[in-house]
This record gives sequence, structure tokens and C-alpha cells, in this order.
Amino acid sequence: MSDVPIPSPARPGAPTAKVLAVTSGKGGVGKTFVSANLAAALARRGHRVLVLDADLGLANLDVVLNLHPKTTLHDVFTGKASLQSAIITAPGGFSVLLAGSGMVEYSRLTPEVRTEFLQVLQSIIPRYDVVLLDTGAGISDVVLFAVSLASEVLLVATPEPTSLTDAYAAIKVLATQQKRQQIRMIINQTVRAGDGRAITGQLQQVLDRFVVPELGRPVRLSHLGDIPGDPAVRDAVMRRQLLLSSLPGSPAALAVSQLANKIEEAIIRRP
Ligand SMILES: Nc1ncnc2c1ncn2[C@@H]1O[C@H](COP(=O)(O)OP(=O)(O)OP(=O)(O)O)[C@@H](O)[C@H]1O
Ligand SMILES: [Mg+2]
Repeated sequence: MSDVPIPSPARPGAPTAKVLAVTSGKGGVGKTFVSANLAAALARRGHRVLVLDADLGLANLDVVLNLHPKTTLHDVFTGKASLQSAIITAPGGFSVLLAGSGMVEYSRLTPEVRTEFLQVLQSIIPRYDVVLLDTGAGISDVVLFAVSLASEVLLVATPEPTSLTDAYAAIKVLATQQKRQQIRMIINQTVRAGDGRAITGQLQQVLDRFVVPELGRPVRLSHLGDIPGDPAVRDAVMRRQLLLSSLPGSPAALAVSQLANKIEEAIIRRP
């Protein structure tokens, strides 16, 4: 871990970062694992990537990456530290902006949190190609606000019925309140190939039947990819290492690399 300067601002008129929110209905489905490893895979492809720990009340990106930041978003928000000093380099070659756990005062969406968050994001965007927002789970106002700042939503769900019910609730809110026309699905901890595509299709059917008629416009769930359930993930988390570095040939690591390819093709390279 080391303090590094923020990359220089992009040339005037040059494209700024694509902001992708990694979110979920239910907690513990793999958002932080996906954010960290996806960031490493995209950094490996030459993109300037920053992961912002947007789970302000219960951040744990630092735990997954084994980082011990001297300054966090909390210090930036309270004016105790500069944004630059809070951005650190993670082992996977990408930048992170950590929230620090227990920021209880930030678990509610106050006007201050809104303003600070927005300012931080605006300063970061011109300096990166991709910004991943690792959000909390659910449909609280803090989570929805973080998601509202992203141009793309990556919704992580597992095949369990509880996760799917919560994913559907989150999709419904994002489609109605945020007028999202497209939500990209990542189905994690799958058992069989094809599970994720089938699940996405089923959620789309329910959405088309119950939500789309009320909205009067289509909402598209696109299946971005699956990540199989893989004991290597837990091993990497226990060792506090990136799966992509510690076990790059494991099925879950290969699936994350494929996801990165798809994101590059479908999102990053698109104007
Ligand atoms: N593909 C997988 N195979 C096996 N285990 C997995 C997989 N993905 C995630 N896990 C397990 O699930 C745990 C929770 O993952 P993670 O912390 O990324 O979830 P989260 O959605 O960020 O949780 P929270 O909602 O609390 O932020 C991991 O520590 C890991 O043990
Ligand atoms: Mg998390």
C-alpha cells in the first residue's frame, strides 16, 4: 500500500470515467468481491480504475484488500484530509477510496453527505477511465443515492430465492424512481452453466408483466455474466487477497475476467 498521486486530469474534451454502481437487493451476495476483482481485471487491461467504497455505514473493501488506510473518506468529508491523500493503490494496480467502517453519521443521507459525496465523485471522474461504486445492499436512501450517481447499474444476485426476491424489489425501485431503462445482471455463486441467463430471463418476465405496464416504457435486464460458486473465493477472502492474484486459474477468477471483457466491450468502449 502506498499513497500515490491521483492520475493527471484527462485532456479537456477527453472522455471522463464511466461510473458503474455495483449493487444488490440482498446483502452478502458478493458485491465487494466482484468490485475488487473486476477492478483488478480492468486495471490489468490498461484502464485507470478507482473503486469507491460507497457502503458508507458498513464499509469493508479495506478488509477484503488488506489495506489499512491512514486517511479515509470520513477525513475528506470532514475537511481533515485532502482527497488526494485518501486515494491509495490496491494490490491489483487500481486506486481505492475507502470509507472506513463505523461511519454511523454517514449511514443516513443528510444534505452534507449528498454534497460531499457528489463533490468527491466530480473530482475523481476526470482522472479515471472507470469508477466502480461498491454500494451497500438494499434500497435505503444512501444506497439509492450512490446508485443514482452511476451511469450503469451492475446488480449482483445469487440464485437463492431470497436474493432474487430482493433483487426484484431493487430493480423495481431503480426502474420507477430512477427511471433506469437498463440494469445489468451479474449472477454470482451459480451451480450450473446457464443458470444466470435463465434467472435474468425469469426476472425480466415478471418485470414485463407487473412493472412495465404501469411504467409505460420498457426496462431491460441484460445478463452480463455468471460467477460460479467456488471455494477459492472464500480462501482468497480469508487470506485477504485478490482472487485474481492468488488463484487466477480458479473458475471464479476466470469468470470475473470474462465479465471484465464484456464490460470493456459493452460499456467502456461505447461513447
Ligand atoms: N463466487 C463465490 N463463490 C463462493 N463464495 C463466494 C462467492 N462470491 C462471494 N462469496 C462469499 O460471500 C462472501 C460475501 O461476499 P461480499 O463481502 O463480496 O458480499 P457483499 O455483497 O459485498 O456483502 P455486503 O452486502 O455485506 O456488502 C465472501 O466473503 C465470500 O466468502
Ligand atoms: Mg460489500
